[in-house]
Amino acid sequence: MIPIILSGGSGTRLWPLSRTQYPKQFLPLNSDLTMLQETVKRLKKVDTVNVICNEEHRFLAAEQMRQISQACSVFLEPVGRNTAPAIALAALDAVAKGKGEEPLLVLAADHVIENENAFRDAVALAEPLAVAGKFVTFGIVPTQPETGYGYIKRGSYSQAGGFQVEGFVEKPDMKTAVQYVDSGEYYWNSGMFMFRADRYLEELGKFRPDILSACQAAMQTTAADFDFIRVDADAFKACPDESIDYAVMEPLSAVDGGDSVAVVPLDAGWSDVGSWSALWDIKPKDEQNNVLSGDVIAHDTRGSLVMSDDRLITTLGVDDLIIVDTKDALLVAHKDKIQNVKAIVAEIKDND
Ligand code: GDD
Ligand code: MG
Repeated sequence: MIPIILSGGSGTRLWPLSRTQYPKQFLPLNSDLTMLQETVKRLKKVDTVNVICNEEHRFLAAEQMRQISQACSVFLEPVGRNTAPAIALAALDAVAKGKGEEPLLVLAADHVIENENAFRDAVALAEPLAVAGKFVTFGIVPTQPETGYGYIKRGSYSQAGGFQVEGFVEKPDMKTAVQYVDSGEYYWNSGMFMFRADRYLEELGKFRPDILSACQAAMQTTAADFDFIRVDADAFKACPDESIDYAVMEPLSAVDGGDSVAVVPLDAGWSDVGSWSALWDIKPKDEQNNVLSGDVIAHDTRGSLVMSDDRLITTLGVDDLIIVDTKDALLVAHKDKIQNVKAIVAEIKDND
């Protein structure tokens, strides 16, 4: 099994802590370790991991792996082209090394998983399915209709511990998401996958030959220094921008009655920490339902997340606020409006 850690997201919804120069996967949001380090630590001991990130973040990635004594290869993208090309780079590398039949375990660098044993059990169930050529996704039981996730329709149970997949729908509209959740037949796609490198390239070539050929061109002239693998910048820049979900998972689950796709349920306290309110959800709270971090005095305050960097923050008589202070920016927002932080980031992008 070859671990592939997708670490190229920008994490703008966790501004002002998460920055272009320092996105959330490189921050210690839920423990003393960064999210990237947590992702590696949650695997059984592995010889080496493949981290795929923007070249701007190469030293963050390499240094964070060094801190936890993890050998790694860091694939450097000159620009982000989303997850379908990122995975293709690692798959092409595996095939070039004669490891095309080995399953890739594709993980996001920015997920929180509370029950690591349950996660490892799910990976163990997925491995033989992946070896047999299936695209395995890890399915989370949905708790509310969410339009930011992919939905997997479960089919019949297979002996091997996974379900067939009757359909995969990436990011449906709200009406559809409500129907899916009410039906009880759908899982959220966790954004983690397991499949053989050669199978990924085969299906990518069928559905998106343009992405495959751009990635092949980008991998033709790689330069390796230390742990870094640099791809050909011009070739990669010419690659279309697409997620694996739209490029492969959705069309593949539609063409062959879902026989090539399997879902392994994962009940492990998973969160993709997509927003400040999601972080508030998963963090331990005080008696007033507050998540307080750093130098904070909260009086008559309920349901809030308050994070201080180095100065004292005091609150009085407020509910459901998100307050995040950093050296050069302060966010004060209502928890219900926090998804709009993206609009603020867009406005100040040049100063970030
Ligand atoms: N290397 C690299 N390059 N990594 C990337 C890039 C890129 O261009 N773009 C995104 N990533 C990484 C992110 O850092 C994250 O770890 C992971 O790939 C998924 O990307 P997101 O941008 O966070 O995807 P999403 O949240 O919109 O949707 C995906 O995840 C959901 C669960 O969190 C989909 O797989 C959904 O179906 C799924 O429900
Ligand atoms: Mg995400």
